[in-house]
Amino acid sequence: MGLAWAAGVALGTFASSTYFLSRKPRSPDSISESEENKATAQILEQIDRQFTITPSKLQEIFHYFIKEMERGLTPEGSSMKMIPAFLKSIASGSEMGSFLALDLGGTNFRVVRVLLEGQGRIRTNQKKFVVSDELKTGDGEKLFDFFADCVSEFMKEFSMDVKETYSLGFTFSFPVKQLSISSGLLMEWTKGFSASGVVGKDIVKIIEASFQKKGLKIKVTALVNDTVGTMIAETYKDANCVAGVILGTGTNAAYIEKVSSITKWEGEDKTGDMVINMEWGGFDDHKKVLPVTSYDLELDNSSINRGAQIYEKMISGMYLGEITRLAVADLVRKKLLFGGKISTKFETRYKFETEYMSRIERDHSSDLNDTKSVLEDIMEIPFTSLQDRRIVKRICEVVAIRAARLSAIGIAGITSKIGRLHGCTIAIDGSVFERYPHFSNRMRDAFVELFGMQADNIRMVLTGDGSGVGAGLIAAIASKTQ
Ligand code: BGC
Repeated sequence: MGLAWAAGVALGTFASSTYFLSRKPRSPDSISESEENKATAQILEQIDRQFTITPSKLQEIFHYFIKEMERGLTPEGSSMKMIPAFLKSIASGSEMGSFLALDLGGTNFRVVRVLLEGQGRIRTNQKKFVVSDELKTGDGEKLFDFFADCVSEFMKEFSMDVKETYSLGFTFSFPVKQLSISSGLLMEWTKGFSASGVVGKDIVKIIEASFQKKGLKIKVTALVNDTVGTMIAETYKDANCVAGVILGTGTNAAYIEKVSSITKWEGEDKTGDMVINMEWGGFDDHKKVLPVTSYDLELDNSSINRGAQIYEKMISGMYLGEITRLAVADLVRKKLLFGGKISTKFETRYKFETEYMSRIERDHSSDLNDTKSVLEDIMEIPFTSLQDRRIVKRICEVVAIRAARLSAIGIAGITSKIGRLHGCTIAIDGSVFERYPHFSNRMRDAFVELFGMQADNIRMVLTGDGSGVGAGLIAAIASKTQ
């Protein structure tokens, strides 16, 4: 079956395409090539149509995002949890002392010693540990005992006196209903975690029990989300910073809100500011405005938190590779790619990593050599033609462009809601923002579509190690006020 015919049957008839992959003069020999190009163009157009967020759709999602932010601050609530973080002051830059910090993000667990030297100067020592899938999905107590073991190992390695009492900031990057700056209940697991016996419990009590079992005298003085930590770490250096965003394995944001706008806030003090952990990954879980494709639905249906974190599932590093894999596998099934032949590896969930998309997007060679190596050597596809590789590259692009535009909507929503379009800094951390090619430029394009020239007033800065340093800083701020 010819590729062109197959494409026509599977995808129907399309208007003329903008993709011309070859401009050789037409000759009898090149007829089949040009047919193939036409078929490729049709496939690409179909893919583009599903994943493109047009300027008007961008506006629509943006306006709905702000509405959901506002509703989330009222007792009615919204798809975003908008959790007050019990943090009213930001870092002044003058905090000093030595603090411990733990950081449980998505992929790794880190123990950090943060030395605050004042005047915005910080030194850290840190050690990274891998959290196995077995620990992530097993018994909760074992998971927290593992964290205590890691702390113990860290203290030995850095010759810290285990008999001394230490203050610790715990960056725990999951939705937590904060009860105070140093206590909070886990609302639900995300990012592939499902350890038993933890949801609904106070995280600080669980970790302190594990510390006690190991004979460690550690007092958790702050429990924070990674977005909060990232924002606070940046405010230590830049007072213009109004929000912290994570674009990594998962995604989320925190920002500074006026307490008077948080009508659900039941605390006595209704003045001043409050940091809000938005849990924006849950935005539009009812899929009212998000442009979900059949691939997003397939991913969601087979995930362990089905129906939740739809926005996160369209943006973050844990999922982008999987969306791409599903789209590619669909085309192979329709015999539009790889001559209809796939590998067991490519058919296995989550085996096509977001990192491979980065490699493919960075591949500017004329024959897409590195793309070939990802597909054939790593993913074990028996054979790929240049046309195949071009199609796969375009799928990576559209999936990542959509993610960047959706992330931009979130940041645009915050800056617009709090009236900081005249100028502000957004602290950002996470592998997608840091390492995915063109991600921040694609976000910028969306800002320009939304705000025109004012887009330049949004300053995005990569705040590396925000969660480690931030947790140490918040421990410092909290120990001043406790
Ligand atoms: C969690 C957030 C976290 C984000 C980034 C999401 O899955 O729900 O709490 O901030 O990941 O790590």
